[in-house]
This record gives sequence, C-alpha cells and structure tokens, in this order.
Amino acid sequence: MKVAVLGAAGGIGQALSLLLKTQMPAGSALALYDVAPVVPGVAVDLSHIPTDVKVTGHGKEDLGDALDGADIVLIPAGVPRKPGMDRSDLFNTNAGIVKALVEGCAEHCPNACIGIITNPVNTTVAIAAETLKEKGVYDKNKLFGVTTLDVIRAETFVAELKGLDPAALHVPVIGGHSGTTILPLLSQIEGVSLTDDEVESLTHRIQNAGTEVVEAKAGGGSATLSMGQAAARFCLSLIAAMQGENVVEYTYVQTDDSDDAAFFAHPVRLSANGVDEILSYGELSDFETKAKQDMLEGLRGDIKMGVDFVHG
Ligand SMILES: NC(=O)c1ccc[n+]([C@@H]2O[C@H](COP(=O)([O-])OP(=O)(O)OC[C@H]3O[C@@H](n4cnc5c(N)ncnc54)[C@H](O)[C@@H]3O)[C@@H](O)[C@H]2O)c1
Repeated sequence: MKVAVLGAAGGIGQALSLLLKTQMPAGSALALYDVAPVVPGVAVDLSHIPTDVKVTGHGKEDLGDALDGADIVLIPAGVPRKPGMDRSDLFNTNAGIVKALVEGCAEHCPNACIGIITNPVNTTVAIAAETLKEKGVYDKNKLFGVTTLDVIRAETFVAELKGLDPAALHVPVIGGHSGTTILPLLSQIEGVSLTDDEVESLTHRIQNAGTEVVEAKAGGGSATLSMGQAAARFCLSLIAAMQGENVVEYTYVQTDDSDDAAFFAHPVRLSANGVDEILSYGELSDFETKAKQDMLEGLRGDIKMGVDFVHG
C-alpha cells in the first residue's frame, strides 16, 4: 500500500503524515511531496519514528517519484483561509494548484484513489474530475472530496451538548463542504433527541466550525490538527476497504443524482476500487429538507465554477 500526500509540509500535511506514519499497516509506503524546501526534512523527521512504514520526501521537481505506484493520493496543497475570508476566496490560488497536481496523478498513478482536501472542496473536486476526464483517466469511483472533518466536528459538538461520548456517536453529514452546503442530519442520530432550538444552533455551529478555528488562529491559518485527524480517518478507512473490510464513510462524490447536485456528500460503502456503493442518506426532517433546498443552487454554482475553470 502506497499513500502520497501532496502538500505534505503544510499544517494539515504534517499532522496527517504523522498519523499515517503511526497508523498505516506494516509494510506500507508514505511519500511526502511539497514545493516547500523543508519537505525532505519532514520526511527524515518522521522516518525516525519506529514503525514499519517507509517514508520518502519529494521536492518540487520530484512529483513523479512521489506518485509512481501510489494507491491513494491525498491533496491538502494550497493556501488556507485568513479571518474574513470565505472558502471561495481561495479559488484563484488553489484551483491551479489542484489542476496541476491532478495532472501529475493522471500521468503517474492513473488508477489511484484521490482524496481532495484543498478548499474550496465544492469546486476543487469538480476541477479534479474535469482534469482527469481531459486526460482520459477519470473514474468517478476513485475521486473523493474529504468532508470527514464536518462529521467529526458534528460528533464532537453533539456529544458536548448532550454529555455523551463522541466516540459512541454517529452523525451523518451530507451536501458540500462550505457554509450552508454542509448539512448535518441531526434528526438521524440514534438515541439522541434534540429540540428545534438545539437543531438550529448545532447546525449553525457545525456549518461555521471552520471559521471558529480561523478566527481563533487570528491570521495563522485554518484547521490543521483536526483536519489531519479527519483525513487520516478517511485514508485509513479507504485502506481497510482495500484490504477487504466493509467500511462506510461520508464523502463528497459524483452522484449522478439530478435532484441534488452532480457532486454531493453521501454515505459511501468503500471497496478495493474506491466507491463500492453510494448509499441513500435516508429521510430528512422538514428542517433538513428546507436547508437542502436552500443550498442546492449555491452548491451547483460552486461545481460549475470548477467545470468552467478547466474548460474556460
Ligand atoms: N477539506 C477540509 O475539510 C479542509 C479543512 C481545513 C483546511 N482545508 C484546506 O486545506 C488546504 C491546506 O491547508 P493548510 O492549513 O495545510 O495550509 P498550509 O499553508 O499550512 O500548507 C499548504 C502546503 O501546500 C504546499 N503547496 C502549495 N502549493 C503547492 C503545490 N503546487 N504542490 C505541492 N504543495 C504545494 C505549501 O508549500 C504548504 O506546505 C487549504 O486549502 C485549506 O483551506 C481543507
């Protein structure tokens, strides 16, 4: 099993790489790529941790070696938000970065599963899809927007409010990954009932949790440690699925569902080939149905922006 992290010297990249170095199955390889000159040092640093995961560092000119033979590629490369910024403000810088890195994937590891972390995820996943299509190697079952952070935040906040163990909670989150496109399905949490006021305030908190971190870091970036944990959970689930386990994660994938949007986070059964089955997200409450209807146009617009960027 080989995992490549592109943008590995950044805040997310380093946290994620640390978790993968300590948790990937024995005998795996972890390739760290970044344009920042510190990346070989990050790899050396991690290589001193005594696990049977081989870490290599790859600088700017070495994308091919990082990607050759990769089974999974995780992409957190790009700039994060500063206070006052929306995720869409990152588009101008990050769109080109994602396109170039995905072109590298198309050339060097066309069969890999690709997890996009770089924001705005609603749009960068569409950019990745169109780029892979242009290169003739698109497989919709192998491209994911990593929305796991929304799930772990939702589980944490619900547990905090209700005095429960977050590890024992399961909170579905569907839709996209920005503002109101993030739709937690609080009506579906087993064993937990919430008042209308609690649903409203929790939904608002989950949708704005990224901004909570951006403001608390006061110009120092956005979520990195919780995102590292979220991306590691997603990657380890994908690895487990590739090794034959039955795993379901919520993730932003191409759905072909014209009632929602071309890409939409769903519960997805993972397999050796990426998406095995996109599962139904079930019945929505009246509150969730309205929230979904209200955000769909924005999400479709975000996706179109990605398609237009590649074909524009
Ligand atoms: N999906 C999510 O839930 C989620 C959550 C938080 C942050 N993010 C996003 O993740 C991205 C990274 O955030 P961060 O806090 O790690 O930022 P960061 O600035 O700490 O790290 C980004 C890294 O990307 C590298 N980079 C830039 N251009 C590159 C290129 N062309 N090739 C390879 N590497 C390149 C930089 O050198 C840097 O090391 C941002 O876009 C941020 O908005 C996503």
